[in-house]
Amino acid sequence: MTVKLPAWFEAGFPHIWNPYSQMKTAAPPLPVARTDGVRIHLADGRVLIDGIASWWTACHGYNHPHIRAAVTKQLEIMPHVMFGGLTHEPALTLAARLAGILPGDLNRVFFTDSGSVAVEVAMKMAMQFWLNRGERGRTRFLAFNDGYHGDTLGTMAVCDPGEGMHSIFTGLLPPQPMLDLPVDDASTAAFDRFLDEHHHELAAIMVEPLIQGAGGMIFHDAEVLRRLRAGADRHGLILIFDEIFTGFGRTGTMFACEAAGVVPDIVTLSKALTGGTMALAATVASDRIFAGFWSDDGAQALMHGPTYMANALACAAANASIDLFDREPRLLQVSEIEQGLTDGLTPCRKIAGIADVRVMGAVGVVQLKKLSDPKALQRACVEAGIWVRPFRDIVYLTPSFTMTADDLARVTGALRKVLAA
Ligand SMILES: Cc1ncc(COP(=O)(O)O)c(C=O)c1O
Repeated sequence: MTVKLPAWFEAGFPHIWNPYSQMKTAAPPLPVARTDGVRIHLADGRVLIDGIASWWTACHGYNHPHIRAAVTKQLEIMPHVMFGGLTHEPALTLAARLAGILPGDLNRVFFTDSGSVAVEVAMKMAMQFWLNRGERGRTRFLAFNDGYHGDTLGTMAVCDPGEGMHSIFTGLLPPQPMLDLPVDDASTAAFDRFLDEHHHELAAIMVEPLIQGAGGMIFHDAEVLRRLRAGADRHGLILIFDEIFTGFGRTGTMFACEAAGVVPDIVTLSKALTGGTMALAATVASDRIFAGFWSDDGAQALMHGPTYMANALACAAANASIDLFDREPRLLQVSEIEQGLTDGLTPCRKIAGIADVRVMGAVGVVQLKKLSDPKALQRACVEAGIWVRPFRDIVYLTPSFTMTADDLARVTGALRKVLAA
């Protein structure tokens, strides 16, 4: 089907560089005119139900009136002011609220503007924690196969090189140890052995709790997180949970770490932090980590400060998003979505070529035995009226928590039909 492209697309597209795209061969992106609830309105008049909530950010749906009102109000008062030497109410209120809803003593919030940078800051914090104690040999991060932590150089070094996106850099980044998650006796023994032998080299252990997202939407049990905590505790190590994907209800509890009853030393947040409206991220440290920087020596300070750190509009959006978690039954909605995904996706098991179907919270995954052309699958889904972004051998759904049962059934029904075709 040929669609007429708007004039702004014709004029601007030759000047844009798109994400994760071979610009020479990639099909052009779909021009969007507006969003509304769980729907994306394309410039050519077609309307798609968004099955993935804009990379898992729009947890309350698009254009939520409460977030819009909060951002509009903040825009009148002060869109932004530098955070070095100045501070403001939206940021401090948000910091206090995050400390309040996170478990344990995760009490100190450092704001940045993207998930990758939040992870970079977590890594820098961990390394400097040891440097401040005079331990200069702790420069490595234990990460896990199938993990994904971002696209910047430091975070790429802790992504699984086989995850595909950054494999061209293999061998060129600071090498980091990478193990299988301790999911069974053998992998737990290997993890314990590695810590026994190498703990003194490690700045931290890092993991995406419960779901390894962009590395393949792979689930693990809460017990795995308890094993990581126990291993870290045995050696006094820092444990970083990257909750950029899982935070704010996605796996069924407000934060994935709660399901395991485990408190990490540092947690990273972004994605749904602003309900999908603005760029904002946070690296939240425990009292112990913060105490490692508390000194009369200026050289022991954390030397980091992005220009748009704690942007007031973004903090207002995040505060409004947390209001919605307080006022509306979001976690109940997540459990209803979980049931809807289970009901809607389980029948895919009967379709030829399907390897696995799994659901956790508001994450549903259909894994194919082989997915040779994810873009063709995406195009077929667009024709069926839904927006998804299959990758590697999976197609996943991470809908807004506010998606109605009818819309969810439309999305899963359309996906089933496309997969069966
Ligand atoms: C677990 C995790 N960490 C880090 C990132 C990077 O976040 P950003 O794309 O905002 O840099 C992502 C993004 O998908 C993620 O899922």
